[in-house]
Amino acid sequence: MIQDTDIVIFGASGDLTSRKLIPALFNLYRKGRMPDGTTITGFAFDPLTTESFRDKMQEAVKSYEDDYRDDLWQSFKNKLFYIQGDFSKQDDFKRLNDHLEHLVERSVNRLYYMATSPQFFALIAEQLGKLGLNEEAEGWRHLVIEKPFGRDLASAKALNNKLHEYFKERQLYRIDHYLGKETAQNILFFRFANAIFEPVWNRNYIDHVQITVAESVDVGHRAGYYDSAGVLRDMFQNHLMQLLSLTAMEPPASFEADAIRNEKVKLLSALRPIHENEVGKHTVRGQYRGYRDAPDVAEASQTATYGALRLHIDNWRWQGVPFYLRSGKALKEKTSEIIIQFREPPHMMFPMPQGQRFTSNQLALCLQPHEALHLRFEVKVPDTNSDTKSVNMMFEYSDAFGKDSIPDAYERLILDAIKGDASLFTRSDSLEQAWTFMDPIISTWEGATPPPLSLYEQGSQGPRAADDLLAEDRRSWMKGCNHDTAEHQVKASD
Ligand code: BG6
Repeated sequence: MIQDTDIVIFGASGDLTSRKLIPALFNLYRKGRMPDGTTITGFAFDPLTTESFRDKMQEAVKSYEDDYRDDLWQSFKNKLFYIQGDFSKQDDFKRLNDHLEHLVERSVNRLYYMATSPQFFALIAEQLGKLGLNEEAEGWRHLVIEKPFGRDLASAKALNNKLHEYFKERQLYRIDHYLGKETAQNILFFRFANAIFEPVWNRNYIDHVQITVAESVDVGHRAGYYDSAGVLRDMFQNHLMQLLSLTAMEPPASFEADAIRNEKVKLLSALRPIHENEVGKHTVRGQYRGYRDAPDVAEASQTATYGALRLHIDNWRWQGVPFYLRSGKALKEKTSEIIIQFREPPHMMFPMPQGQRFTSNQLALCLQPHEALHLRFEVKVPDTNSDTKSVNMMFEYSDAFGKDSIPDAYERLILDAIKGDASLFTRSDSLEQAWTFMDPIISTWEGATPPPLSLYEQGSQGPRAADDLLAEDRRSWMKGCNHDTAEHQVKASD
């Protein structure tokens, strides 16, 4: 049973609160998953009142949530409060605490959610700590921290140290919203709740793995932040590293948060470092044409909006299997997918035309937007002697569970942070391990002799150099989640 909780959202006047947090909380309420005694207090600098905050949130829920219902909103809105305050003023935190202690439906548990710009994370933790609002005398105190968590290993460590001055690791919930996606959670279920995949999930059967997180949107109104972050900090250090861990980690002994997180950190520690002098060989940095014209982007900005990299995992399971990762903005389509490309059969007994190669098996984990699993294999074409065709066996979430079966990632994450289940949150050691791997690549990209910046057209598949990276290994990027391209025929003999 989920306990009553007083939720405090720092930075409640911002985009994340209206776009994600309040719609997710409203949905939890609509689904009857939020205990009656729960309250939500927004705290931010903007001069709002509880009334105007409720109005603003109502507009947000109406525009971001298909399942808005006015009758439900009328009861839900009574849970919302707003305190105007300054993160640097201790008196404002005292007022916040006073307000929480005088709530009619006061709870003993508190979930603090930092939906602010990262420069305030340490300060807010300190203010809470100095007033003892971190202490768990009566109920629990959990602190949710949004990304980005640091800019590099040193700043991530410094932030961890600061948070640990006031909060124990078990009180901290570092968000990576990709882990809240159903399809990302399903990777472990698919691998470890079935007996038939794990035996082939290794170097003996897998040729290579591709992880793609492509976005069609450009940097939009976040250009100011993005220009100082770039694709490696924005997507690779967190989301792609997490997807890689789920795909490649060893089976945990239990479904406990620490058992899972121990395996993730082991996997990240097994990544072969890409040293500065190898960055040009294993990575591609790109920027879409027109990026520099966006407001708040430096005139001659060298920030990458696209990245591709080849990495290796030095352990028994994966020795010799390359992993190719790519992500970028302003690309042709939004798609996140993981492709497991199996090896070719060791011997081909069927007659094939000269130079023709067989298509090997492929498993595609389609994370979004069309959530599915596709397994490609060869069959004989009827009424031919030995023509073969690649066909797909497909599992679509919408067929199996209904069209609207997939909740927004934030629903699961908020619920888990309340329940105290940290499995889907990043522990400090694995976060630091991900930075350890990414740091030399980022510093080389931003250093005096970075690899060339390859420009690409908006709406394209990304820079040519990314194709060349795979072509060097006689491979190419694949789209496993698109029915049309996944299915094709190989002609053998007549
Ligand atoms: C965020 C990045 O973490 O993830 C954004 O900061 C990116 O730049 C977003 O657009 C992508 O998330 P999703 O859920 O739309 O794939």
